[in-house]
This record gives sequence, structure tokens and C-alpha cells, in this order.
Amino acid sequence: MIELKSVSKHYRLSGDVLVKAVDDLNLTIQDGEFAMIVGRSGSGKTTLLSLIGGLTRPTQGSVHVDGVDLWSLDDANQSRFRAEKIGFVFQIPSLLPTLTVLDNVKLPTMFARQHDRVGEKALGLLQMVGLSEKAHAYPSQLSVGQQKRVALARALVNGPEIVLADEPTSDLDKTTELEMMKLIERVYAEGHRTIVMVTHTLELASYATKVRTMVNGVLSE
Ligand SMILES: Nc1ncnc2c1ncn2[C@@H]1O[C@H](COP(=O)(O)OP(=O)(O)O)[C@@H](O)[C@H]1O
Ligand SMILES: [Mg+2]
Repeated sequence: MIELKSVSKHYRLSGDVLVKAVDDLNLTIQDGEFAMIVGRSGSGKTTLLSLIGGLTRPTQGSVHVDGVDLWSLDDANQSRFRAEKIGFVFQIPSLLPTLTVLDNVKLPTMFARQHDRVGEKALGLLQMVGLSEKAHAYPSQLSVGQQKRVALARALVNGPEIVLADEPTSDLDKTTELEMMKLIERVYAEGHRTIVMVTHTLELASYATKVRTMVNGVLSE
């Protein structure tokens, strides 16, 4: 379960300007939910995902994942908790250009408890996202949609219970968007996972079991 209580993330810019990226927000996501947060650009979606995933420390409030306050852990344990439990699909796929597609997918296993047959697992995931023939290609040789699918495979390699997806369909045409959503739906249905996806595309809400709208750092039904 993911539980945010009165969570704020405020940024103080030069002078007295205060940006309330996330403001006094409460959110509970049960295990096995597909939660979707819909909001326009600048509404605080990426900040919210970073808070859930422990990439950003809240300026106020608490974030618990499976009962654990990520900020009560020391650095090493926090990184490991994150690596093992949470898969991130970043808005910009951020694949390492000098590694092959396969090695990019394997990369997060370096930060989690070691497990066997990483290569096989990574290849299986590439197959799942329809890119096994690109395993030995480099990211620059892929389209944006393909890179996003590799990023999805990479997010799954440690077998996370929670997948956080930041606008996984942005910059895609409608057909490619549908392909990506089918994949995410499959990851959700077959993996017994909890998904939190943020998007500016309201039409995608039908995929989710729980939808919230985000405006200026605040959620509403
Ligand atoms: N590191 C930061 N420093 C200052 N302001 C930030 C930072 N990150 C985000 N913001 C601001 O917080 C607000 C929400 O940003 P963000 O979470 O990226 O929104 P979204 O993902 O919905 O586009 C924006 O006004 C943005 O400019
Ligand atoms: Mg964003």
C-alpha cells in the first residue's frame, strides 16, 4: 500500500517566490490498484511520482510504501528498497547510449539483490514488449516509441511490486499510444502489480481502477 499524508513539496526560488509543486496532498493506493493521475503540464505529476518513489524528499508530510517510511532508512537501504520494490518508467526514457538495449534493461539489477539468470529475464521482457530483435541494437537506433518500451522492460527487470509511469504515452501517435497502453495493461493484469501512472491525456482514464485529477499540486476526485 502507498500512503501519502499531508505531503507537500515546495520549492523556494530566488527571492520570495515559493512554488507549491505538491501541496498538502493525501493519497492512498491499495495493492493491486491501477491509479491514474491526470493533470496538465506543470500541475505537479512528476513531483508526485518522485515523492511516491522516494526520489524526492517531501518538505512536509509522510510517504509510506508497504508501511515503510522511505526517509527513515539510511541511503543504502533506501536505494535497495527502491530498486527491489519500485520500477520507474521515466517520461524521458533516459537509456544509456553506450549500452545495448539488452544491457540497458539489465542495468537496474546492479542495484538490487542479485538474482539468477538476469540475461534470460531481460530477454524475456524485451520479447514481452515486442523488441527481442533489437536486443543488441543501441538506443539511438530505436524510435521514441521503442525506447519507451525498452524503458518499460527496464522498469520490470527487478520484478517490482509497484510500477510508477510518468507520461509513458507522451510524444506518441495514437496507434503507438494504444500499443503502449496495451502493454501497461498486460503488466498490470499479469503481474499482480500496483501501477501509478500520470498523464495529461484524460481519455486514458478508462484503463485505471482509480482516477484523480491534479491541479496546481492538489488532487481532486
Ligand atoms: N526542482 C525544481 N525546482 C523548482 N521548481 C520545480 C522543480 N521541479 C518542479 N518544479 C515546479 O513544480 C511545478 C510542478 O512540476 P512537475 O511536477 O514537473 O509538473 P508536471 O509533471 O505535472 O508537468 C512546476 O511549476 C515546476 O516548475
Ligand atoms: Mg512531468
